[in-house]
Amino acid sequence: MSLSKSKCTRCEESCGKGKASVDVIRKLEAAFDKLASSNSTSLLKRYLTRTIFDDLKTRKTSFGSTLLDCIQSGLENFDSSIGVYAADPECYSLFAELFDPIIEAYHGFKKSDRQPPTAWGPVDTFANLDPKDEYIVSTRIRCCRTVKGYPFNPCMAADHYREIERQIVSVLNELSGEYRGIYHPLTGMPKDVQQNLIDSHYLFKEGDRFLQSANACRHWPTGRGIFFNDKKTFLVWVCEEDHLRIMCMQPGGNVGEVYRRLVGAVTELEKKLTFIRSDRFGYVTFCPTNLGTTIRASVHIKLPKLASNMDKLKNLAEKYHLQVRGTAGEHTESEGGVYDLSNKRRLGLTEHEVMKEMYTGISEILKHEKSAK
Ligand code: ADP
Ligand code: ARG
Repeated sequence: MSLSKSKCTRCEESCGKGKASVDVIRKLEAAFDKLASSNSTSLLKRYLTRTIFDDLKTRKTSFGSTLLDCIQSGLENFDSSIGVYAADPECYSLFAELFDPIIEAYHGFKKSDRQPPTAWGPVDTFANLDPKDEYIVSTRIRCCRTVKGYPFNPCMAADHYREIERQIVSVLNELSGEYRGIYHPLTGMPKDVQQNLIDSHYLFKEGDRFLQSANACRHWPTGRGIFFNDKKTFLVWVCEEDHLRIMCMQPGGNVGEVYRRLVGAVTELEKKLTFIRSDRFGYVTFCPTNLGTTIRASVHIKLPKLASNMDKLKNLAEKYHLQVRGTAGEHTESEGGVYDLSNKRRLGLTEHEVMKEMYTGISEILKHEKSAK
């Protein structure tokens, strides 16, 4: 099935570029008022002013996406931190009046900025952050990729999922050496196996309400799955939030080893798959928080002293451009005193600069932990 831009996968008709329907505008109006009077602290609420809303509410991309498709998640989940997704790649430009300030607030990336060319840099720059294994439980680095020729989740038909999965898996199956592995489709995966993979931090969770509201979970579990090597140190998520989430992870704090493995993996995959990259935003992703390098480099770390005052830990993390998440990932709480600390910015910096930001930040946090009373 080839991707036809003129055929909308929502209504299966040739809606093409044009205006949002009266029904969509009516839904938007009602939801806008609710959001405006809510106590949401999302970037959506902050930047969707009445003027911008009125400007954007009638627009529609050539994929058939409207403002409603981009902001539905934030409208239904007032506890969103961001609240928007690009329903298709055109949304970043057609709804730029909303996306640009949100992107700047999240990444510090201005309207006039451009993502630098891909630069992994020397992979041997980073050492083990915790050689005595006292604080860091594990290290994980992931990046996201969108395959050329396919839209983002909300515009994907069941056949798109089947076709893209076939294409990605045939490439993954050719990998060798430390990247050799097996693909495990979600379709037909026993529930206990799935849960075990989720609980061990390898597999994406199911039923993310932010993604569901964004229409990103349609046709689930068709086309979704996970590929991993024997040691589960190289893994690829297929068609969760993005077409690919490529990740390397291992116990301990050896950032250098994990980074080297990830760079090798992405380099291999790029030989066989074509990924969408824009001059302005670098690698294009469904969520604006992942644009650019798309790298989230994290450690699962125990910081008993700093974590006794969470406001202090969060302020310190912010100082080093780090984000604090719970143990099971985004929107979760810490379990057993383990926190997920990762780089917050991914756009406007090279891959190597992003890694350096994370590496320096975690080193500094560790110094604070060691010297805290
Ligand atoms: P993403 O990292 O892809 O944005 P999440 O924040 O939901 O998504 O995390 C996905 C999974 O990766 C979760 O199970 C989380 O616990 C796990 N994870 C993240 N960082 C680490 C790490 N450093 N060590 C082990 N597991 C990790
Ligand atoms: N939409 C969610 C929110 O605003 C998640 C944003 C970032 N995370 C992501 N997985 N894209 O809180």
